[in-house]
Amino acid sequence: MSQKILITYASRAGSTAEVALRMGAVLREQNLDLDILPVKQIHSLEPYRAVILGSAIRMGGWLPEAVKFVQDHQVILNELPCALFSVHLMNMGDDETSRSNRETYLNSVHAFIHPRLEACFAGVGNLNKLGLMERMIGKMVKAPEGDFRDWKSINNWALDTAREFSSVVRN
Ligand SMILES: Cc1cc2nc3c(=O)[nH]c(=O)nc-3n(C[C@H](O)[C@H](O)[C@H](O)COP(=O)(O)O)c2cc1C
Repeated sequence: MSQKILITYASRAGSTAEVALRMGAVLREQNLDLDILPVKQIHSLEPYRAVILGSAIRMGGWLPEAVKFVQDHQVILNELPCALFSVHLMNMGDDETSRSNRETYLNSVHAFIHPRLEACFAGVGNLNKLGLMERMIGKMVKAPEGDFRDWKSINNWALDTAREFSSVVRN
């Protein structure tokens, strides 16, 4: 039987895709077998023993294609070990308000699945990479500009998922 892990993601400007690629590199260093693909390219979870699923946050929640992926595959995602990550720019603090605002990002997902692990990572604000409409929204909500990704915490979380999944993918 396949021992493969799937890392799948939804991204608009690329920063979430890069986070997924980094997680994949960390897991491969642990000799784990995996695929890294956008959610839109996944039609079946049958080849996989565990799933890491991530989305950029837009307008307070996961991207629609990531939510659709969860809806379409909810039965199997509730059976397999599953870890979720979100990449965002607002509510980055460790205070109660930021934490509870971050939790609401996952409301549309928690209606369908109950993952073993979850994380929110600070992402990238780059108005030059956005279309006109998104640039206007970004300016309106005063989204910070810059690359706020904390690669150390992304690496550590990837190692946590490797440990969490190890019993199912190494036997
Ligand atoms: C139009 C727009 C809306 C956004 N909405 C939110 C939001 O509601 N909350 C948040 O924390 N970040 C928000 N962000 C920031 C993105 O989540 C962040 O830039 C992330 O790194 C984007 O990921 P991507 O590069 O994979 O698309 C928004 C960004 C844009 C451009």
